[in-house]
Amino acid sequence: MPLFYVRARPAIDLLALQAVIESSHELKEGDTRVPEWPDNGLGFNSARAGLKWLLTRLRAQRQKSLSVGVQAFTCESVLSAILESGNLPVFLDISREHLSSPLSEVSRSLAEVLILTHLSGIPNPDYAGIATECKRRNVLLIEDLAQTWGASVCGAIVGTLGDVALLSFGFDKPISAFRGGMLWVNKSGSLPKLLPELHRDYWALPQEAPAGAARDLYRLSLYYGLTEPDVYQAGLNYYSLADAISVRQGKSVERIRREVGILQSLPAYRVFDRIYGRSREWFPIRVQRLGEPKKRYLAALFAAYEEIAERRRQLALRARAYLEKDMPGLEFPGNPGSATTAPCRLTALARSSSERDDVIARLRDRGIEAGGFNWSYLAMERFHRLASQASQFPNAKDVSSRILNLPIWSESIWA
Ligand SMILES: Cc1ncc(COP(=O)(O)O)c(C=O)c1O
Repeated sequence: MPLFYVRARPAIDLLALQAVIESSHELKEGDTRVPEWPDNGLGFNSARAGLKWLLTRLRAQRQKSLSVGVQAFTCESVLSAILESGNLPVFLDISREHLSSPLSEVSRSLAEVLILTHLSGIPNPDYAGIATECKRRNVLLIEDLAQTWGASVCGAIVGTLGDVALLSFGFDKPISAFRGGMLWVNKSGSLPKLLPELHRDYWALPQEAPAGAARDLYRLSLYYGLTEPDVYQAGLNYYSLADAISVRQGKSVERIRREVGILQSLPAYRVFDRIYGRSREWFPIRVQRLGEPKKRYLAALFAAYEEIAERRRQLALRARAYLEKDMPGLEFPGNPGSATTAPCRLTALARSSSERDDVIARLRDRGIEAGGFNWSYLAMERFHRLASQASQFPNAKDVSSRILNLPIWSESIWA
C-alpha cells in the first residue's frame, strides 16, 4: 500500500514562514529576537534525534544500558532511537480503548525508563496513576506527545506529570518545520537538577545549517501549496497540482518539477511520497540542534497552538458525524474531538481488517483519503523479537489490523 502522507496538513503562518526563509542567511545563534523559545525546551532536527540523544546521555550517566519500556504499537523511529542509543526495548501491550499502555501493563513492566505514548491525540486515561507509579519506582517518564500535544486528563495537561515530553514538528504534525522536534524538560520532574549538564552537552552538538533549515521550510511551503483543499481535491493529478502551485508561488512549472523530481503525470499521493521521501532519513539517526530559521518560525507559532488544536477538534467531530452516519460499525477510541483530546489525525477502529479495507476503498471512491496507520506492525514485530521478553501483544496486533487513519486538515473533506 502506498504511504498516504496527504492525510496530514500542518497549520502554517505563511508570512512568518516567508520572513524566515528570506532572512535565513542573517539568522544567528543566540539572537535575542527569537520569540519565546522556552528555556527548558531543547530543539532537535527531529523528535527521534532528541530521544536518541537523551537516551544516550542517560546510558552514559548511569554507566549501563537501560531497559526502556515502550508500546508494542508505536512509531518505528522511537524503536530505532532506543536501539541506536545502546539501550534495550521492553514492550508493553496497549489498550483497545485508548491505544496507549494501561497502568496494569506499566505496573507489570520492569522498565527503568518508560516512554508513554499518547497516541492519535488521545490522552492516556491512566496518566496520573502511571506518573505516580513511575515516581514510586524511580522510573524516568518520557511522554511521547508527537501526536497529542495539548490534550489533558482530569485537568492535567499531558507532559506536565512526567519528566520529559517529546514533541515532533514533522510535516504531518499540527505545527511543523517539515522536520524538527523538541525535548521539553518538565521543571517539576526529576531532570531539572541535570539541566545544566544536559544544556552543556546539548550546546556541544552541531546545529542544522541555516540554509538546510530554510530549505526544509521551503519544502513545507511547497507541501502546503500542494495540499490546498480546492487544488488538491479538484483532481489528484500531478500536472494540475504543479500548475496550481506555480501560479500561487510565482515559480515556473519546470522549477516545481525539478524540486519534486517527477516528470510524468502521477497520482498526487506519489508526489507527496516523493517530496517527503527525498528528505527522509532512516538510520542511523542524525542528531543535530534545531536550525535557527526553524526555531524562529516555530516559536512564532507556539502562541497559536491552542487555536489550531481547537480547529482540529471541530474537524474531528465533523468527520465523526459523517462517518457515524455513513459508515456504521466504526469505533472511535478515546472519544476524539472532545475537549480533552488534541487530534493530529482522526483514528477509528473497524470491526475487522477486511471491513477496514472496505471502508478505505469506499472513502477513496468519494475522494477522501483514508488509510491504515503508516506504521508497519510487521516491521515492529522484528523489534519485538529483539526484546528479551515473551513477544505476544494481542491488543497491539489486533489494533494494527483494524486501525484507520482519517484526514482532518480541511473542512471541505467532510462536507
Ligand atoms: C508517536 C510518534 N513518536 C515519534 C515520532 C517521531 O517524530 P520525528 O519524525 O520528528 O522523529 C512520530 C512521528 O511521526 C510519532 O508519530
